[in-house]
Amino acid sequence: MLLKVAPAFALLNTHEENLSSVISFSSHGSALKNFSAKNGNGLVVCASKGSNSKPLTGVVFEPFEEVKKELMLVPTVPQASLARQKFTDQSEAALNEQINVEYNVSYVYHAMYAYFDRDNVALKGLAKFFKESSEEEREHAEKFMEYQNKRGGKVKLQSILMPLSEFDHAEKGDALYAMELALSLEKLTNEKLLNLHAVATRNNDVQLADFVENEYLQEQVEAIKKISEYVAQLRRVDKGHGVWHFDQMLLHEAEALA
Ligand SMILES: [Fe+2]
Ligand SMILES: [Fe+2]
Repeated sequence: MLLKVAPAFALLNTHEENLSSVISFSSHGSALKNFSAKNGNGLVVCASKGSNSKPLTGVVFEPFEEVKKELMLVPTVPQASLARQKFTDQSEAALNEQINVEYNVSYVYHAMYAYFDRDNVALKGLAKFFKESSEEEREHAEKFMEYQNKRGGKVKLQSILMPLSEFDHAEKGDALYAMELALSLEKLTNEKLLNLHAVATRNNDVQLADFVENEYLQEQVEAIKKISEYVAQLRRVDKGHGVWHFDQMLLHEAEALA
C-alpha cells in the first residue's frame, strides 16, 4: 500500500471582528470532513477537502518501498515490544546487570547512612552524605530501567546482596574505612559502566553507547575524584577530633555552596 499525503498549511488573517486568524489544512483524496473550531481568542482551525483545497506549498511524502518490510516485522503478539529495534539480547542483559550494580551500591550506601546516624556514632555529615549517595544510585538504577523500557527490553531485577552493618576499623576508624569502601564501589561501578559501553559497541548499538557516555561516564569520573579527595582529607586528619571537623564540613557543605 503506497500512502500519499500532501499536507498544506496556511495561516491567514481574516477581516471578521472576532476572528484574528485562520489555520487551514488540506488533504488530497482523504476522508477528512470539513471541520472548523473556534476558540475564545478568535482562532479558527479548518481542515477541508474540495476544489478550493489546492495544495499550497505542501510537502509530498512518499514512504519508501522498504517500509513494507518494516510493516511485515511489526509484532502482533502482545508480549513483544513494538518499539524494539536493533536492540540485542546482549545489550538487554547488560542493562539489567547494570541496574543490579546500581541497586547494590545504593544498598551499601544506605547501610552506611544507618551506621553513621546511630546515636553512639553520630556523624551527621557522613550520614547525610551516604543517604544522598544511596538515593543517587537508586536514581541511576531507575534511569537505566526507563531506558530499558524505551528500547523495548524487559527489566529483570536480580537479588541484592546483604551489605555490612559495621564500618569501624581498628587502624583507619569508621569514617576513612567507609570512604575508602565508597571509592572502591565507585571505581567498580565505573568498570561496569565501561563494560556496558563495550557491549553496546560490540553490538553496534550506537544509541546505548551514547546514552552511557552522556548520562553516566562523566558523572562517574567526577564522583571518583570527589571521593578520592575525601579519602585524602580523612587520611590527613586522622581519627577523633579531625573526623569531627570533616563531618561538620560535609554537614554544612550545601549551606556553604549556597
Ligand atoms: Fe551510579
Ligand atoms: Fe556513584
